[in-house]
Amino acid sequence: MIQRPNIILIAVQSVDGFITCGESKGTAFASPADQEWFQFALQQMQAAVFGSGTYEAERERIRNHLTEQRPKYVLTRHPERYAHEAVPGQLEFTADSPEALARSWGAKGWERVGLIGGSVQHARFLEQGLVDELWLTIEPMLFGRGRPLAPIQDTIDLDLDHVERLTDQTLLLRYRVRGAEG
Ligand SMILES: NC(=O)c1ccc[n+]([C@@H]2O[C@H](COP(=O)([O-])OP(=O)(O)OC[C@H]3O[C@@H](n4cnc5c(N)ncnc54)[C@H](OP(=O)(O)O)[C@@H]3O)[C@@H](O)[C@H]2O)c1
Repeated sequence: MIQRPNIILIAVQSVDGFITCGESKGTAFASPADQEWFQFALQQMQAAVFGSGTYEAERERIRNHLTEQRPKYVLTRHPERYAHEAVPGQLEFTADSPEALARSWGAKGWERVGLIGGSVQHARFLEQGLVDELWLTIEPMLFGRGRPLAPIQDTIDLDLDHVERLTDQTLLLRYRVRGAEG
């Protein structure tokens, strides 16, 4: 049987659980320490996956960091809209389900894939039991509104694995999803 890789949700959020500050797109609120941590975390992944909302918000940055070493998968119900932006082996647009993707990554022998946004895709993967760990940076801010980390329907239990101060203001929390199978 093909094993799926560990899928690790990596995000930066406010203390009140938002991954964007209100309607502002992107993660300009993230501290330099988080940005450095994010690059380090990404290097530990064999691929990265995110939704078209994240791609639209970060298009330039994403396209400037393409590499064959770490292909990126953009989830959209309309891959044809993005066909002209695809870069074979580096940037793929797909309507495949999270389950089908996880199986295909397992068939490639990949062990770790980063799920790097946004809210919609976090919730899809979590609700399908496809997230093994959450690596969350908590910035010392309250936004009151914005995109939530993961608008799921049912409670998911986590085990706290690791706590670290990236600076005296910014926390890194690592959780395992209880019962995860990756
Ligand atoms: N703080 C952080 O760590 C962090 C991380 C990542 C992103 N962000 C921010 O979060 C925002 C984006 O989050 P988001 O939740 O709006 O977008 P998202 O999760 O990145 O992408 C959502 C899009 O995925 C597509 N999609 C593909 N399959 C789908 C399905 N079965 N059902 C529904 N949608 C499907 C839809 O667009 P189509 O019409 O193309 O199908 C949908 O609009 C951006 O502002 C980004 O900067 C923050």
